[in-house]
Amino acid sequence: MAAALAASPDAELRTAASELFKPIPRAAELPHGAAMTRAKIDLGAMLFFDPRMSRSGVFSCQSCHNIGMGGVDGLETSIGHGWQQGPRNAPTMLNAVFNVAQFWDGRAEDLAAQAKGPVQAGVEMNNTPEHLISTLKSMPGYADAFKASFPGEDDPVTFDNFAHAIEAFEATLLTPNSPFDQWLQGTDGAMTEQEKRGLKAFIDTGCSTCHAGVNFGGEGYYPFGLVEAPDASIRPEGDMGRFKVTNTQDDEYVFRAAPLRNVAITAPYFHSGKVWNLEEAVKVMSNAQLGTELAEDQAKDIVAFLGTLTGEQPQIVHPTLPVRAVETPHPEPIDLPAQTGAVAPQGADAAAPASN
Ligand code: HEC
Ligand code: HEC
Repeated sequence: MAAALAASPDAELRTAASELFKPIPRAAELPHGAAMTRAKIDLGAMLFFDPRMSRSGVFSCQSCHNIGMGGVDGLETSIGHGWQQGPRNAPTMLNAVFNVAQFWDGRAEDLAAQAKGPVQAGVEMNNTPEHLISTLKSMPGYADAFKASFPGEDDPVTFDNFAHAIEAFEATLLTPNSPFDQWLQGTDGAMTEQEKRGLKAFIDTGCSTCHAGVNFGGEGYYPFGLVEAPDASIRPEGDMGRFKVTNTQDDEYVFRAAPLRNVAITAPYFHSGKVWNLEEAVKVMSNAQLGTELAEDQAKDIVAFLGTLTGEQPQIVHPTLPVRAVETPHPEPIDLPAQTGAVAPQGADAAAPASN
């Protein structure tokens, strides 16, 4: 195999790429060695798809992380509880298990810590752990599923276990076998000449200094505007990124290098969701992060290359959800703005990062 690879005309580029990137594996492990059992994954899927996890009974994780749409909602910034618009674009949870930390600013250390956020965020699901647990406990279907997923625990329906089940499900949402991964593993014909030129430009211009590893990002934090501040319409002034997490001045406008797996199907782009066109996003990056204006054909080549990062999308059968019982809390009515047909104003905390 090594000899065959060396003889390939792509050998040099493939060697360079292999030092920077890794293919998406077909299965992932959980951090802290937590077990990935069928029961836990199936429970996580139910919780992910169940709108009753929100106070209103309207929003599920799937509302904003649509598994059929690359794991995003396709909105500039997400719409949650009471039609409120959150401050940030929803990133995908596909392959998110490989990120060093979750959220645009990395404020959750892993998927389990992350999963507790949206349930409680006022602009998202607006629930409380206590109310969530009483909802889950009221339905025998959930009580049984928690018992099967966390065997040996006296009281398995807990907020921690809710998060661990969702984490296990999310860790199965991987997109292996993209054209790039096939090429990286030795199939020359999996990428076109233009896509290969784009890969070379991606490495040579310096994109890969921040976007590398298995997810082409998600591993480190950098100022958005390292060389040149992007336009305030793209990097709004209210959202200072990691500064809010670390309170260190150096972290003003610092964000996690966005993972670029499946990026061709997850528009709009950036934490603000203000850029809809991938070619424009690539040009914004080049100016802001590298201080270089890309030649027109180079930008197009990079966009073509980024398209090769779209892998096989997870094929999930929508789970049948446990039926409600008499004791199950009713969904709570939402205070909607007056039904004038006008668009609702932004949420009160629109300028601050969502606490989801
Ligand atoms: C109302 C829309 C909404 C709902 C509902 C929602 N999310 Fe999110 N999600 C977001 C937004 C917006 C972000 C980014 C917030 C930020 O970075 O500050 C996010 C971030 C994430 C991330 C981090 C991905 C990354 O690359 O950093 C994961 C994972 C995630 N959500 C999973 C979930 C799960 C699990 C649920 C259900 C328990 C859920 N979300 C419910 C909008 C939503
Ligand atoms: C110095 C580090 C750095 C370099 C170099 C860099 N990026 Fe980024 N990239 C980031 C950060 C940080 C973000 C997140 C910006 C934000 O807050 O929205 C990002 C976001 C992106 C996004 C948006 C993804 C999404 O889902 O919204 C794309 C596309 C992208 N980069 C492509 C590139 C390309 C192409 C290059 C080379 C021309 C490049 N980047 C160079 C750090 C970098």
